[in-house]
Formats: sequence, C-alpha cells, structure tokens
Amino acid sequence: MDLLERFEQDRWDAVVSPHEQRRALESLEGGRVVYFPQLDFPFQAAERALLSRQWDMRADKNISYAPDIGLLRGVRADLPDRALLVGLMQRFADTTKQFLRQLLPTYGPQLSRARTSFRPVEIAGRPSSYRKDDTRLHVDAFPSRPTGSARILRVFSNVNPHRQGRAWRLGEPFPEYARRFAPRIRPPFPGSATLLRLFRITKGYRTLYDHYMLRLHDLGKADVVYQRQAPQMAFDFPAGSTWIVFTDQVVHAAHRGQHLLEQTFHLPVAVLAKPERSPLCVLERLTGTTLTANALGGEKGTASCSAAG
Ligand code: SIN
Ligand code: FE
Repeated sequence: MDLLERFEQDRWDAVVSPHEQRRALESLEGGRVVYFPQLDFPFQAAERALLSRQWDMRADKNISYAPDIGLLRGVRADLPDRALLVGLMQRFADTTKQFLRQLLPTYGPQLSRARTSFRPVEIAGRPSSYRKDDTRLHVDAFPSRPTGSARILRVFSNVNPHRQGRAWRLGEPFPEYARRFAPRIRPPFPGSATLLRLFRITKGYRTLYDHYMLRLHDLGKADVVYQRQAPQMAFDFPAGSTWIVFTDQVVHAAHRGQHLLEQTFHLPVAVLAKPERSPLCVLERLTGTTLTANALGGEKGTASCSAAG
C-alpha cells in the first residue's frame, strides 16, 4: 500500500525522532497519506453529546470554525451546545498545530492555521451538486478561498463513536491527473480575478494557479467516465485514527462515514523541502507559464518553479 505511510505514534504530544520527521516530510511531499492508525482524538465526557445529536445543517455539509478569531459558522446562533462545540474545535486546532510543529519542524511557523471543521453528517446519500460532491475523485481547490500559491495541508481524525470507518478512495499521482485535465483548461478572461475580488466572490485574489486548480477540481469531478475508470484504491480509515494529506496534491474521494474533525493549514511553496513536486511547479512545467508572481519568494514576476526543479 504505497499510497499510505504508517506511523505508530499514539499520543499527540509524543516526541518525534528526526528519522520519523524525515519520513513524514518525504511521504507528504511525495503525495502519500501520512497515516496514524492509533492516534485517536479524545473527547471529554460532556462533548460526547455532540456525537449523538441531530444537526440542523441547512445547506452546509460541515460546521466550520476560525480558530484564531473564535468564529463558528454553519450552525444556528442559539445552538445549546455552542460552547462545547467551540471548545472541542479549538482544542483540535491547537492540538494539531502543536503536533505538526513536532512532526514537520522544517515548516515551522510558516505552516499557518486556517479553518477547523466538524463533519457530523453521513456522507453516503447526502444530496450535493457535482462540484460539492466529495464522493467523486478530486484535488482540493475552493472557489471562494483562493490560496494564491500556498499549499493545502489537512489533518483528519475519524471520531465516529460507533466504530464506523471513513471510506476514502485515493487516485493517481498528481502529475498524471494534471496531464490528463490541464490541456482542457482555458485561461480566465482578462480582469476576472479583480472582478471576483471586487464583488467579494473570492476572499482574496484568484491567481492563475488558483484558476488552474479550481478547473482541475471541477473537470475531475464532472468526468463520469474518469470517475469510473480512473486508477483508484479504496481505504477505510478506522474510527480512532488520524491522517495527514496535502489535499491539493493527493487525488481523493470520501464516500462513506460520519463524524470527522479536520484542520486545514496553508504553507508557502518555498518552504517545501522539494518545491518542484508541488502542484504549482508541476502545472508551471506543464503549461510553460508562471502561474503566480513571487511564488518562490523571489522578485515579483521573476519567480518560477523551473528555477527550483
Ligand atoms: C474531502 O476532502 O474531499 C472530504 C474528506 C472527508 O470528509 O473525509
Ligand atoms: Fe477534498
């Protein structure tokens, strides 16, 4: 099972040896899932109520939380368990941040924390548009949250109380996925990134890189033949396990499971041990174009991945 790299740690505060740190870094940047079968995220007794209640989720599939400003989204303002939920999500955000500092010390404080999510709704049978349908293979890219050029690293913990696994599928390596779909991508119309930002459709500036990633996400999900025939490996992440993934690089789908905690981090490409393996650099080589100014920390407009690769 080449797509998963197993680690035996079972504590969030364990000291990680330099050998294990290198193994984690190499695996993640190489497009594998770093998998901790015994790393369970503990709930306090009162918090268990959050796993048995019915959630009124409106249109959202997740409850999301901004840990650095303490803002909860996706639930009613008068939710009785609000304080419990905030406490749980803040603890997950803080624990995973500390854990990644130990596991990936070379990323250091450049690994910045973004949203936390709690996913209490069963995936199977959940209605969804094809773009939001995570049961289809895809790489992550979000229409309203461009990263500019930053990587998306996510920590997932299956916290299901009934021992139900989270059923994922893992697809082909990113360069193959990109070679398949990138030739179908047209450039955005001139000025669109500025307009998207002006009308607050995007929360930042959508770079060419963001445009390409979003199209890769959409084209993959829309292609039903690809979904059926693409190389893929099914894997059930058991309840009580944790896994870490560059979800902008690893082709993935989740088709069954309930009760997940997830923490997103962003990372500048320049901080990677091997930037040339990043989606940005793969796409720049493929298109022969600089997709974002300053992506590798050089002078504006002169940075390019070919220099790194
Ligand atoms: C996804 O990132 O596509 C969904 C992961 C999950 O909810 O298990
Ligand atoms: Fe995803």
